[in-house]
Amino acid sequence: MENTSALQLVRETDDFVASLIAQMDLAEKIGQMCQIDVAGEALSEELKARLSAGEVGSIINQVDVELVNEIQRVAVEESRLGIPLLIGRDVIHGFKTVLPIPIGQAASWNRDLVEAGARISALEAARAGVNWTFAPMLDIARDPRWGRVAESFGEDPFLASVLGAAMVSGFQGQSLRDNGSIAACAKHFAGYGAAESGRDYATTNIPENELRNVYLQPFHAAVTAGAATVMTSFGDLNGIPCTANGFLLRQILREEWGFSGFVVSDWDSVFHLKIHGLTADDAGSALEAAQAGVDMEMASTTYKQYLAQLVEQGKLSESVIDQAVARILRLKLALGLFENPYTEPEALPAYGNTQALDVARQTARESIVMLKNAETLLPLSANTLRSIAVVGPLADAPYEQLGTWIFDGDSALSVTPLEAIRRRVGPEVEVNFFQAMATSRDRNTDAFEAVAEAAGQSDVVLMFLGEESILSGEAHCRADINLPGAQAELVRKLKAAGKPIIAVILAGRPLTLTNVIDEIDALLFAWHPGTMGGEAISDLLFGDFSPSGKLPVSFPRHVGQVPVYYNHKNSGKPPSDDAIVHIDDIDANATQTSLGMTAFHLDEGFRPLFPFGFGLSYADFAYAKLSCDKQQVRLGETLRISAEVSNQGSCKAIETVQLYIRDLVGNVTRPVRELKGFRRIELEPGQTETVTFDLHTDDLAFFGRDQQRVIEAGEFRVWIGGSSEAELETGFSLID
Ligand code: BGC
Repeated sequence: MENTSALQLVRETDDFVASLIAQMDLAEKIGQMCQIDVAGEALSEELKARLSAGEVGSIINQVDVELVNEIQRVAVEESRLGIPLLIGRDVIHGFKTVLPIPIGQAASWNRDLVEAGARISALEAARAGVNWTFAPMLDIARDPRWGRVAESFGEDPFLASVLGAAMVSGFQGQSLRDNGSIAACAKHFAGYGAAESGRDYATTNIPENELRNVYLQPFHAAVTAGAATVMTSFGDLNGIPCTANGFLLRQILREEWGFSGFVVSDWDSVFHLKIHGLTADDAGSALEAAQAGVDMEMASTTYKQYLAQLVEQGKLSESVIDQAVARILRLKLALGLFENPYTEPEALPAYGNTQALDVARQTARESIVMLKNAETLLPLSANTLRSIAVVGPLADAPYEQLGTWIFDGDSALSVTPLEAIRRRVGPEVEVNFFQAMATSRDRNTDAFEAVAEAAGQSDVVLMFLGEESILSGEAHCRADINLPGAQAELVRKLKAAGKPIIAVILAGRPLTLTNVIDEIDALLFAWHPGTMGGEAISDLLFGDFSPSGKLPVSFPRHVGQVPVYYNHKNSGKPPSDDAIVHIDDIDANATQTSLGMTAFHLDEGFRPLFPFGFGLSYADFAYAKLSCDKQQVRLGETLRISAEVSNQGSCKAIETVQLYIRDLVGNVTRPVRELKGFRRIELEPGQTETVTFDLHTDDLAFFGRDQQRVIEAGEFRVWIGGSSEAELETGFSLID
């Protein structure tokens, strides 16, 4: 019954779209393939004329709902065919209510929460008339210098796939037609995160095998989850910019994955093809992009200017255009825009409503990763403290805690750490605030002596350090990823004042903390936590909840180690902890081969400062009894892998239990570890739970030497634990 009606719907959609296309002239078709930037401007006569001429398929950057409705009205009532518009906006991690930046959300390892956050964002954005967001960003990010690591789910394809699919579901809801659902866009297809030296827009060179096994995985998951659209990357991938890359857009996306949504370029990225040096002129760029499978051009106007002429000259088949238009119209139909293109804001929840703020607070809380807690300094007890010094440039910066890509974020809703701490401890505890630095980049140390002196009088020193939001995000890359400005010096000054230092770092990327980590006694890494960041930080500092975040990216010891990621290959000369020599310990006249001849840096070894998956808790989790239900598994079978996890601490806490495997031999070499599952469990003190993962042999598939998916017989190692360095190990074999 259900199938019949689904089929009927497809048929009706196809009929509707086909009959509409049959009525369209070439210019109207091309109009659907153009997205124009209206940059928040009022409805000009020029825009009106373009809308009524049917020259526009979508607009970007208008969130005044009355104007959006008026723009829709002109498109629907004054154009010949009355086709409604897609209203696009970058709703990346919230709309008015801002959630943690995506890398922070990834640190929660909580798919349900990521979905709930996207739903909140969709509901708020839809209230402004937005029906299409450019998220999730699914670029695997192994380079913390890259500013857009902030927008990513980190370095691991499995985690990014799970969370990317969750975000798609949150935006799109049960049905795109539902009030409050908006279309998602999986971006930037593909390989964008591998920009050379972490410099945004720089060249990417990724071998096909790595592309398939790593970079494409989250996109495939998003497509499988029903992502309505895909955006091309700005990058030049192996010599062919992604916006003209038929291998990606036609072969992989459409032929191999059967993607039926549409592809949008990135901002001006069709126009960029000429600048890349791929085409000689804009007409050539329009041709390359359209032929490669870009259905809609964002911002630049090469489609508007040249597609008709390319068709007339016989260089481009009109069927390419018809297919693109059909895909775009199908989404408009799926969103219910032909029935009702207008937005009734009052029919949607208010901005910053309690539910939105609760989700933002929980997500921020679960995104924070505790990286150090010497002498169990944390949590603080508000009852025994008399005074707290709150120090640093990010303690009371309502805008900065929101992070990158917050066009619509309302910093008036922000609760800063200073505010939340004051509220939490009440009037009995003296809270003394010293900003000490004008910004995180400030190099002026004049105030430090006095701040150290004054702060040293308090019972405890809480430092709020990191990066302002402008230091990460698109085109905001850094070559040096230490704490900027004189922050490290501020840490040292305060430490010298004799009080334990609790640092909370707000940042858009992993930072190198080697130069301060020994001075800091306890450290919470809070990313840019969003609107409710202050409350979330206070929830953890005072022990109302235990930290539960786990790193979705490795933190390098030194920027020179980059890229450093847990799921690397073994190499023929892997290093080991006991066989590496530090540069300071090299004997004079040491012979060339005396240092071990393995893959490490003489000055920094080979390990990151903090590994992927790592994060401390106020509880103490112990792992035991790792076992597989069989030693041998046959193709098509499922293996049950379990371990006992106990909370040996004294408070209730959440642990993210992680399952890793290693495929020991492959026809292409396999990573030293691969995340294959994770589960968040909450345990009371003294409680033990057996956590079980079902691993199907399909989960062991990879792309082999001929770029085909393969599952190979052989030996596998298995680990379950609380980070990618989990030690509890067993194994199984896969037999034919
Ligand atoms: C970014 C995209 C974004 C688009 C629209 C581009 O510069 O790369 O991620 O969606 O602008 O604002």
